[in-house]
Amino acid sequence: MLAVSLDGRLAPPEGGAAQLGGAGDRMALEQALAWADGALIGAQTLRLHGSTCLIRRPELLAERRQAGRSDQPVALVVSRSGTVEPSLAFFAQPLERWLLGPGTAPAEGFDRLLVLRPWQELLEQLANQGLKRLVLLGGARLASSLLQEGLVDEVQLTFCPQLLGGAHSWLPPGVALPRDSWELHEHRSLGEGELLLRYRRQGLPAGLA
Ligand SMILES: NC(=O)c1ccc[n+]([C@@H]2O[C@H](COP(=O)([O-])OP(=O)(O)OC[C@H]3O[C@@H](n4cnc5c(N)ncnc54)[C@H](OP(=O)(O)O)[C@@H]3O)[C@@H](O)[C@H]2O)c1
Repeated sequence: MLAVSLDGRLAPPEGGAAQLGGAGDRMALEQALAWADGALIGAQTLRLHGSTCLIRRPELLAERRQAGRSDQPVALVVSRSGTVEPSLAFFAQPLERWLLGPGTAPAEGFDRLLVLRPWQELLEQLANQGLKRLVLLGGARLASSLLQEGLVDEVQLTFCPQLLGGAHSWLPPGVALPRDSWELHEHRSLGEGELLLRYRRQGLPAGLA
């Protein structure tokens, strides 16, 4: 799920953190996190933002607690280099942190390491450890690596009333993708000119939450 400008950018031309979404998008983000067991985040997004989004709404936290779930989904940071600065605010946030990266032991600040391997295997490994519902928080390179392998079931975009221009499309230019068809599953005005669109990949088994 991503917040994008009307021209499909997720960051300004100069790069860095765009902070595109408003209050409605923040609510949609928290709802998605409340559904999730784990949240995948690209290392570069974390480096640029310094922290990740937390569920703060009391009613969402109460629902998770009632269901015997942790307050927050596990933060799953994806990195080939394995280098994430341990002084980032992220490491003081109240959540469990797993690194999907290289090495033999968790890097400083992480609770667990899952060694990188093909996505299909990693997703199975995560499911076996109880993380079946995953939300993909971006950025573009992480999203494209899963989309390229046809492993994303839903695409949720919040269109924000801005034009940013520049090169930072929500998928990097030149990425080859499977020719899946997507069905519109939801469209919702989030206020402040924002529009949420949720598409589901055609052919998914019925009953997918
Ligand atoms: N608007 C939104 O909703 C939204 C959401 C998220 C991010 N963003 C924006 O997106 C931009 C960052 O996106 P990005 O595409 O540059 O970076 P990214 O996808 O967040 O992170 C890229 C890094 O993630 C790791 N990575 C990605 N795919 C991997 C894979 N398949 N296997 C192993 N590691 C992998 C690598 O880490 P290493 O470098 O450690 O090897 C790679 O350099 C920022 O401007 C951010 O603000 C916007």
